[in-house]
Amino acid sequence: MKSVILYSSSKKHGNTAHSVQKLAPKLQADCIYLDDYEINDYCYNHTNSDDGFRTLFRHLLNYDHIVFASPVYWYATTPRMKAFFDRITEFMDDEALQPELRKLRNKEFSILSNSIKQAAPECFVEVFQRTCEYLGMTCRSQIHHQYPYEGDK
Ligand SMILES: Cc1cc2nc3c(=O)[nH]c(=O)nc-3n(C[C@H](O)[C@H](O)[C@H](O)COP(=O)(O)O)c2cc1C
Repeated sequence: MKSVILYSSSKKHGNTAHSVQKLAPKLQADCIYLDDYEINDYCYNHTNSDDGFRTLFRHLLNYDHIVFASPVYWYATTPRMKAFFDRITEFMDDEALQPELRKLRNKEFSILSNSIKQAAPECFVEVFQRTCEYLGMTCRSQIHHQYPYEGDK
């Protein structure tokens, strides 16, 4: 069972990265910092298709278990993680790409969230859960880490 942690945060070495580093050895997972990639917003006519999304998505299809790691930013995930999920739609739009998309049906996903609260808001978790389940993936685990508020520093 090959695992990968796909993480996004405005801080490459912030709390999300810390959570990822704690989990990765337990899963023997590879780690990918999503914000290193150019992932443009979804576009109906796919004019963005030559950015980093398709190569990254196809790379992720080599794993059996994908952990989506994100901080809670105003009850939601990061803009880059949202763009990543939106762009998966491209593989639905185009019949030629649909067989690749179907590979997700055999895969597991987990959610690794962090925030200053004890738990992730339901609306945050639901976005991952509903989207991944819609794509046919199975939820393995949901982990949340609480970090101290650092706003006054
Ligand atoms: C723009 C922004 C919005 C945030 N919104 C929330 C929030 O809605 N709920 C919460 O509990 N924490 C919120 N936080 C706190 C972060 O979730 C928390 O500090 C997290 O550990 C930051 O991870 P990072 O270092 O990877 O960015 C917010 C932080 C930022 C910068």
